[in-house]
Amino acid sequence: MAKEKTTFTCTECGGTSPRWLGKCPSCGAWNTLIEQVAEAGPGKNRMSAPQGYAGLANAQPVLPLAAIEAQDVARTPSGIDELDRVLGGGIVEGGVVLIGGDPGIGKSTLLLQAMDALQRAGLPTLYVTGEESGAQVALRSRRLGIEGSQVQLLAEIQLEKILATVDATQPAVVVIDSIQTTYSDQLTSAPGSVAQVRECAAHLTRMAKGTGIAVILVGHVTKEGALAGPRVLEHMVDTVLYFEGDTHSQFRLVRAIKNRFGAVNEIGVFAMTEKGLKGVSNPSAIFLSQHSEPVPGSCVMVTLEGTRPLLVEIQALVDSGGPSPRRLSVGLDKDRLAMLLAVLHRHAGVACMDQDVFVNAVGGVRISEPAADLAVMLSITSSLRGKALPRGFLAFGEVGLAGEVRPAPRGQERLKEAAKLGFSVAVVPKANAPKKPIQGLTIHAVERVEEAMDVVRGL
Ligand code: TYD
Ligand code: MG
Repeated sequence: MAKEKTTFTCTECGGTSPRWLGKCPSCGAWNTLIEQVAEAGPGKNRMSAPQGYAGLANAQPVLPLAAIEAQDVARTPSGIDELDRVLGGGIVEGGVVLIGGDPGIGKSTLLLQAMDALQRAGLPTLYVTGEESGAQVALRSRRLGIEGSQVQLLAEIQLEKILATVDATQPAVVVIDSIQTTYSDQLTSAPGSVAQVRECAAHLTRMAKGTGIAVILVGHVTKEGALAGPRVLEHMVDTVLYFEGDTHSQFRLVRAIKNRFGAVNEIGVFAMTEKGLKGVSNPSAIFLSQHSEPVPGSCVMVTLEGTRPLLVEIQALVDSGGPSPRRLSVGLDKDRLAMLLAVLHRHAGVACMDQDVFVNAVGGVRISEPAADLAVMLSITSSLRGKALPRGFLAFGEVGLAGEVRPAPRGQERLKEAAKLGFSVAVVPKANAPKKPIQGLTIHAVERVEEAMDVVRGL
């Protein structure tokens, strides 16, 4: 295939250069030039079309919104309930899903299981593997007990060949494992580079929209936890799913970060077993570590991201630090931790200035909702004082800079779930206190951080 011309475009100012340069000739920024296929032909740039826009204006009819018929998207359930839950019901025709996560967390496993289920449901599937050989995927399928599967496998990394195969075989769903190993021969950049990832994803997205074939892209995650490759990848696709969890523990969460066809922040819960990923339909208690006796520095909270409440243990360790004490958080926002320590000092008189403070959400979950604040604070004070919170204790609520405790959304549901699991004492924001008592649960409603501290001291 004849190579098309490529140019290098600056991600900062949009300036172009015919060859790669370390420094953008237009704005002077460093390392911002990214290779792109130059669009051929005259008038490639609409803005510079000399005859004005008259010729372009009639390309698509303009209609009042009321005249356009709303269409429900056609979905096919993958047959894996927890995956369908995050997808918003199933695989959407022509939909593009990006699924990211740490290496070894189970992306390939889940997708192979899903493709097999879809294939058995009568949907032709194509699994393109760029990271592993066909033999390796076959080995995995044997482990999953699906060695007789009719899923079509293609070990290929060149985009043009992948697109040709898709065209020839006409599957309903294609998995690209992974987008970082795929490369287009139109670009000279190395596979995995920003230019290649962007170009390949754009081609595959266009193919999906043009043909109605659903595409699932596997993406790698950088050390910082973001999807490797340009942010533009997240904008291009319809759905972004993230695998979370500690590879050392059995449980995995799949979270929808973006979904044009469903709710975001919905989570699917899986357990990695000897025979692949199994859905966990009742996950509320899996992120609690089982202490035989209550220990200092531990406080349980209920998170509610998506539709199901999850009980998660927050752990803190406060220990005398050096001249510049460290603040470290795993699964929780680091900036928020600094803020909470300042609020603790100012409003509750608890000082940790010369102490190292570590906090951790058990089991590798990431908690982004501020409802974790109160539990983080109580676990820190518990560790600082060396005094455990009582058995069956939980707390949730957002804490503001003025020391006020703000309500969490759907507090009743959270409390009911906790009561169901045998929790007996809760410290919650006043606005979350239930009108009718919940059996077995003593509730302390608080408006301020100081109050919460007093309640805990008196327990
Ligand atoms: P994998 O799907 O290859 O991860 P990714 O594609 O995200 O890199 O997951 C591989 C891990 O899962 C590996 O450490 C082995 C483990 N595993 C099981 O525990 N049980 C199984 O049935 C399979 C297939 C893998
Ligand atoms: Mg893999």
